[in-house]
Amino acid sequence: MTDSGRGLPGLLDTEAIRKDFPILDRAVHDGAKLVYLDNAATSQKPRQVLDALSGYYERHNANVHRGVHVLAEEATALYEGARDKVAAFINAPSRDEVVFTKNASESLNLVANMLGWADEPYRVERDTEIVITEMEHHSNIVPWQLLAQRTGAKLKWFGLTDDGRLDLSNIDEVITEKTKVVSFVQVSNILGTVNPVEEIVRRAQDVGALVVVDASQAAPHMALDVQALQADFVAFTGHKMCGPTGIGVLWGRKGLLDDLPPFLGGGEMIETVSMHSSTYAPAPHKFEAGTPPIAQAVGLGAAVDYLSAIGMDRVQAHEHALTEYAVGRLREVPDLRIIGPVTGENRGATISFTLGDIHPHDVGQVLDEQGIAVRVGHHCARPVCLRYGIPATTRASFYLYSSPAEVDALVDGLEQVRNFFG
Ligand code: ALA
Repeated sequence: MTDSGRGLPGLLDTEAIRKDFPILDRAVHDGAKLVYLDNAATSQKPRQVLDALSGYYERHNANVHRGVHVLAEEATALYEGARDKVAAFINAPSRDEVVFTKNASESLNLVANMLGWADEPYRVERDTEIVITEMEHHSNIVPWQLLAQRTGAKLKWFGLTDDGRLDLSNIDEVITEKTKVVSFVQVSNILGTVNPVEEIVRRAQDVGALVVVDASQAAPHMALDVQALQADFVAFTGHKMCGPTGIGVLWGRKGLLDDLPPFLGGGEMIETVSMHSSTYAPAPHKFEAGTPPIAQAVGLGAAVDYLSAIGMDRVQAHEHALTEYAVGRLREVPDLRIIGPVTGENRGATISFTLGDIHPHDVGQVLDEQGIAVRVGHHCARPVCLRYGIPATTRASFYLYSSPAEVDALVDGLEQVRNFFG
């Protein structure tokens, strides 16, 4: 294996970081060393997060908010402490603006449903418009399709340029006085594109539309500052940022969360209940019906601590250096077509590609035999594949523990795929 990228400026000490991730040491398929390049699907978890999860269950497990015993108080403090950590991590003005959900999909569904049930001026209804983009993950398409179908509102979207960017040339026609909400992805999970949030937010604000940002592929990889984004809602998930599965976040402006109606009803989200009606707890609890994902929140808090100790700017610099290296090396592979930006500028460390006529599932299988884990398919962003006239892609996605040597392993592995398929 070559290692020509060793010493690139900006790289983290991946040898040290990898010691925190026990799974990265394992072998697969007859002793092949694992090269894990499926981080856009889920990241691996450091020992610090695994210890926080087992420590919670071993010493503090109880339900939150309603017990008067020691364990209940400790569990509540840990759960609410995780909210404090997440609030600081995203620079939220108030911890009460951080709603814990199951995942980013639930966060986005929560917003879409709230806006369907809201009073004026937020209500999405007939003769109003919802705007998304063609590069959304299905979780930021389907909730809005459902909302449009149920309310009679019109769903519109920005298209894509040939080089994998949002086509904003018609921004004034797409976002109009009728637009109630604009929801878009900050970093594409299939193209790797980093979108110009500011330009879209500015136009949305001009027409008084709410802005929702899907930051699922941003929060793990760069400093996320919800105040700087100037959106109204920001959604992301824990498991892509070193945290456990089963925990997502919806950040929303306090005034909005106070004004908007709840999504799910049940315990924990109420103030009082009678047989005739109920009143609701203040945000964020209004949006957290039922026993919440307590251990998962604690795990996410540990993930936030872990990433913060390294520094998100350093994580971003590492991934930027690695992306530039990976894009350069992949462009040397004959017949390889990158689906998305072909430079490191305004792109994240997720690189989708096709390899001649070889089906991505075959590419993925031959890479897997060499220990290289990539993802193949439409990556829950099928409209992107339709736009570029391909059935699927192979996607390699990198993270803070990924090294140039793993980029080289991928390139060598692709050579073997080409040899295998002649
Ligand atoms: N959203 C995840 C992905 O892009 C599952 O792979």
